[in-house]
This record gives sequence, structure tokens and C-alpha cells, in this order.
Amino acid sequence: MDNLDAIVKEALDLFAGIDDPDQLEQAKARFLGKEGALTGLLKGLGKISAPERPAAGARINQAKESLESALRERREAIQAKRLEARLAEEALDVTLPGRGLGVGGLHPVTRTLERIEDLFRSIGFEVATGPEIETDFFNFTALNIPENHPARAMHDTFYVDGEHLLRTHTSPVQVHYMLRHAPPLRVIAPGRVFRCDSDVTHTPMFHQVEGLWVDEQVSFAGLKGILTDFMQEFFERDDLPVRFRPSFFPFTEPSAEMDIGCVHCGGSGCRVCSHTGWLEVLGCGMVHPNVFRHVKVDSERFQGFAFGLGVERMAMLRYGVNDIRLFFENDLRFLRQFN
Ligand code: FA5
Repeated sequence: MDNLDAIVKEALDLFAGIDDPDQLEQAKARFLGKEGALTGLLKGLGKISAPERPAAGARINQAKESLESALRERREAIQAKRLEARLAEEALDVTLPGRGLGVGGLHPVTRTLERIEDLFRSIGFEVATGPEIETDFFNFTALNIPENHPARAMHDTFYVDGEHLLRTHTSPVQVHYMLRHAPPLRVIAPGRVFRCDSDVTHTPMFHQVEGLWVDEQVSFAGLKGILTDFMQEFFERDDLPVRFRPSFFPFTEPSAEMDIGCVHCGGSGCRVCSHTGWLEVLGCGMVHPNVFRHVKVDSERFQGFAFGLGVERMAMLRYGVNDIRLFFENDLRFLRQFN
């Protein structure tokens, strides 16, 4: 009993220095547990003389209560400290400005396709599509490229089997469309095409937009006028120089390739235009009578013009992209520039 005050002081000092709830419970056991110092004193009450026992018991109980209340306070303090630390760690500053949601954008090739479609729609062209897996007939034969014709070798075709292939151009859509629609007709056909070809200006899959206008009074002069207007609108330059060079496509006669003045150097000559000042953008011509024969259009009564342009080529020129493969690598650092 003589040690009681010292025991209480020791316990209170110990509790005050503990910051961990488990350690606190262990410290409690040292004084109030089965083998604890105060418990030992309570057990020893029997040895004290009867007259002194009640006072001694009351002192021990008081000491026990003061330890229990110190423990309670300590527990609450530890809990409050922990909560404070957690709040500080997970602090949320509601006054900060919002981070905002990342807004996606259309792929530059899609944007270019939509721009081309909008421009042709605005002058009355319908938009049609056709299959990407074609038969030899639609991709070649009906377009006046018979079997064993050397023009087939120009196309670097991916064959699916003896009869089917991945279309090498959008021109077969002309054939599908004319089999279903009688002239007069005015249509463009955008879509994916495939060629076994890959370098800075060629990819194995790319997009073309085919154009076809068939009527009784369609002329090469009309073809030149429409394509010139289209290019000037597309590149937003009324003074964009254009030229038509004689060329060859089995499905048009006469045929031409259209060049525009180099949009990079303005025509003075640079690496992009191979120092010619000109860039080739599409192939075109008057629909060959043999094509009309395959789709049962009277070539004595109707004439037509057709053209096919490479969409990636147009996107490269419009956005100043110098490697076509960038469009297909899905590198977000590249694509974000078009958002
Ligand atoms: C044709 O494909 C013809 N069908 C176009 C045509 C249609 C002519 C109607 C007459 C009448 P050509 O093979 O030149 O033509 O391709 C047209 C355009 O596609 C090219 O000017 C070029 O811009 C693009 N192109 C061709 N090969 C690739 C390729 N591997 N990767 C990306 N673009 C290509």
C-alpha cells in the first residue's frame, strides 16, 4: 500500500507517453490486468487488518478509477490525433479549379473525309458505299481491266482467294451504283482501299473518295471546273493553282491526273513536291464506253466523268503531315493536335 501513489504515478506517466492503441492496452494490462500491480494490491487486501481494510480498498479503487479515466482520455486523444493526421493527408481543397474532362476529337482522316463529303453534298452529290471485299469482276473486269491486262499489276492486290480480293480502289462502287441507279446520277463513294504498299506516302490501307457524274451533257470541261472549285474550297484558297496532266486509267478515256500548286512552298519547289512546285492529288477522266457497256448504260446517249482521290494525301497537305504512317500509329501526342 505504501507504493500505491508511486504505482499510480508510474502508470499515468507511462500512459501519457504512448501513441499506439495496442501499446496502450499492453500498458493497461501491466497495472489492471490479472497479474497487474493494482490487481495484486486488491488481492492482498485480505492480509490487511480488518479495521484498515475498507480505507485501503477505497484507496485502491480510487487509484483504479483514476487509471481507467486516464486510459479513456488517452484512447480518445490517440484516436483524435490519428483522425487529424488522416484528414491532413487526404485533404481536399474544394476551392481548387476543376481538372476538366479530356474531350476527344475526330481522327484527322475522318475530319478530312467529312469535309470532302460536305463539299460534294453541297453541290448535289449523293454518298454511296460498297463492299471492301470485292470480286475480281467488280474491281477489275467491269472497269475494263480484263484478266492478264498489265494494269492489274499496277495495283499490288491482296487476294482473299481465287475469286475475292480486298478492293484496290473505290472505282468498283461506280459499277455497283450504276447497276442499281439509272442516269442521270451524281455520286461520291468514300471508303477504305487496300494495296500491298508501304512507305512515307503509301500505306497498305488508305481511303479514297470516288466521284461519278453521268448525264446527257457531261463534259471534260465540267470535270475540270468541278474539281478546280473543289480543291480551292477544300484548301480555302481561291488562287490555288491547278493543272491537269494526260494520264492512263483503263476505265476512263481520256484520262488525266490533277496536280495542285505545292501548298508547302507555294510553287517555288521543295522536298514535299520533289522540287517540281506541283503535287498530284487525284486521277480522273471520262467514263470509258466499255464500263457503260458492263452496266447497260447507253454510251451514245450518256457521258460521264469520274475521279478518285486519296484522302490521306489530302489530309497530309491540309495539315502539313510529312509521313502518312503517322495517321495509323494511334499516338495520342499526334492525334491530340487535331482536337
Ligand atoms: C486510282 O485508284 C483510280 N481508281 C482513280 C480514278 C478514279 C481514276 C476514277 C479515274 C477515274 P491511283 O492508283 O492513282 O488511281 O490512286 C488514286 C490516289 O490514291 C492517288 O493519287 C494517291 O493519292 C492515293 N494512293 C494510291 N496508293 C496509295 C497508298 N498506298 N497509300 C496512300 N494513298 C495512296
